[in-house]
Amino acid sequence: MTIAFLNGEYMPLSEAKISPMDRGFLFGDGIYEVIPTYSGKAVGFKGHTSRMSQGLDAIEITNPYSGDEWQTILSSLIEKNKVFIESGNIGVYFHVSRGTDTKRFHAYPKNIAPTVFGFAFEIAPPQPTAKTDAKPFKVALQQDKRWQRCHIKSTSLLGNVMHYQAGVDAGVNETILYNSEGMITEASSCNVFMVKDGCISTPPLNHELLPGITRAIAIEAFKQAGLVVTETWFSKDDLLAADEVWLTSSSKEVAPVVEVEGKKIGSGEVGDIWEKAISAYHAYKFQA
Ligand code: PDD
Repeated sequence: MTIAFLNGEYMPLSEAKISPMDRGFLFGDGIYEVIPTYSGKAVGFKGHTSRMSQGLDAIEITNPYSGDEWQTILSSLIEKNKVFIESGNIGVYFHVSRGTDTKRFHAYPKNIAPTVFGFAFEIAPPQPTAKTDAKPFKVALQQDKRWQRCHIKSTSLLGNVMHYQAGVDAGVNETILYNSEGMITEASSCNVFMVKDGCISTPPLNHELLPGITRAIAIEAFKQAGLVVTETWFSKDDLLAADEVWLTSSSKEVAPVVEVEGKKIGSGEVGDIWEKAISAYHAYKFQA
C-alpha cells in the first residue's frame, strides 16, 4: 500500500479519508497537478507548482504551501513510496480543494481550510529514443464539448473523462479535440503537436487548452536542438494531412500518434522527426 499525504500527515493511501461535504467531492471545486519524476528527479517542478498557484488564484483559494513546502511534500512522497514503486518512475499527484463545508451551497464559503491531498503512483518509463521501440498511439477526434476555462487545471474533469471514454469505446488511446471553428485545441488529457514539411506546430495558449508543462518544456527543448517549432492554430483537416502527430503530457512525455479517427498519419509509422524531438526532450527535461 503506497503512502499518501492528507492535510499535513502521511498515511497509507487506504487510510486517507475526507468528508463527503468536501467541495472537491460535491462540486469538483479544486485544482490539481501531476508531476512526473524519474529516479527521484522531477520534471518541470517549478512550472507545475506555479501553474497550480495560478489556478488557485483564479478560483480564489489561498495556496496552502510555499514552493519549498510543496518540494518537501514531493520529496517525502517519493522517498516513502520508492519501496512500493521499484521502477523509480513515479508520478506525484497534488490536489487542493476548497475544503469541507457544513452545507451544500454554491458560493465560496469563507474561513474554511483547503483540503490538500497527495499520492504517488507508477508512471510509464521514459519514452525510448528509437522509433522502433516507441508505443504508437491511435486516437479519436471529437468536437470539444468542455467548458470555456480549459486553461485552469480544475478537478472538475467530467468533460475530459467523457471525451477520453469516447476514445476507449472506439478502441483507441486518446481523443483529440477541435473547437467550433474546426481548429484543434488539445486532447482530453494531453496537448497536441503536428509536423508538416519539417515544421513542428502546436496550438497557441488560450482559454481553450491547458498550458501543458510538458508542452512548454518540449517547445524549449526543440528550439535548443535547432528544430523549427511554431505556436499556430491548425484545423482537423491539417491534422489529418500531417506528416506526424504527437501528444504531450507529464505521464507520456512526447508520444507519437500514427492513426487519427481510423486514418493513417504519414506512413502510419512513428516518424523521423519524433526521434529527433524525443532526444531533444530527454536532453533538456531535467533542466526545465
Ligand atoms: N493531464 N491537457 C489536458 C486536458 C490535460 O489534462 C493534461 C495533463 C495536459 C498536459 O499537461 P502537462 O504536460 O502539464 O501534464 C494537457 C494530466 C497528466 C492528468 O490529468 O493526468
